[in-house]
This record gives sequence, C-alpha cells and structure tokens, in this order.
Amino acid sequence: MAFMKWSTNLSVNVAEVDSQHQHLVNFINDLSAAMKEGKGKDALAEIITGLVLYAKTHFATEEKYFDKFGYPETFSHKQEHNMFIEKVTEFKNDFDNGSQLLSVPILSFLRDWLVNHINVSDMKYSGFFNEKGLS
Ligand SMILES: [Fe+2]
Ligand SMILES: [Fe+2]
Repeated sequence: MAFMKWSTNLSVNVAEVDSQHQHLVNFINDLSAAMKEGKGKDALAEIITGLVLYAKTHFATEEKYFDKFGYPETFSHKQEHNMFIEKVTEFKNDFDNGSQLLSVPILSFLRDWLVNHINVSDMKYSGFFNEKGLS
C-alpha cells in the first residue's frame, strides 16, 4: 500500500498544480518504498535530490502565478515554501554526509507538511486563481 495518497479533496481546482502535487506525492511514495525495500544510499539520494528539485519547480509555478495575478498572500506563502526548501536541503546535506539516515519520522514530516500546506495554504489561492481564469 502506498505511503500516501492524492485524492480529489486535495484538489485546488487548477489542473497544472494538481498534477504537480500528485508528482510530489509520487516522490514521497518512491522514497518510502525505496526505504522499505532497503535500497542503498545512492538510490535514496537520487530520489531525495529529485524531490528537492521538483519541489523547487512546483513552488516556482505557484509563485509565478502569485506575481502575475498580484496574489495578496504572496509573502507569507513564499515564506512557507522557502522554509520547506531550507529544511529539506538541510536534511539532504546531512543525509549526503552520513550524519542523518532516512527514517519514518522524516517521511511522515514530508507527507504531513505537504498535506497541510495544500489543505491550508494552497487551498486559499484556489478561488482566486479560478477568478483570474486559471483552472
Ligand atoms: Fe503547492
Ligand atoms: Fe504552495
């Protein structure tokens, strides 16, 4: 069974963003599966690198629309993105230098952060983006 599942109640009603969120869910599931299967450090590092890069791409997509449409909550939303990237990059560095292992609490942090961020912060721009013609 997958570690986490995307469902329509996580939909922000913007197809491009929903598809990126599903991609992030897939990364977290891949990481969980690789850990359970006892994959080596290099295989895990590759997924972690992919996750960080993809999260950056995804955040850049949302932020592009914030800037384009003059979204009122741009500042606080960008701060949340930056804090996540900082935290995951720190973990990635610790993982790469061997001072931190991938663990269930770390996977749970990734999952919970993503679900919470989508449900609380991303959901707030849903109607605003739709009004600007993005769906
Ligand atoms: Fe998002
Ligand atoms: Fe976001």
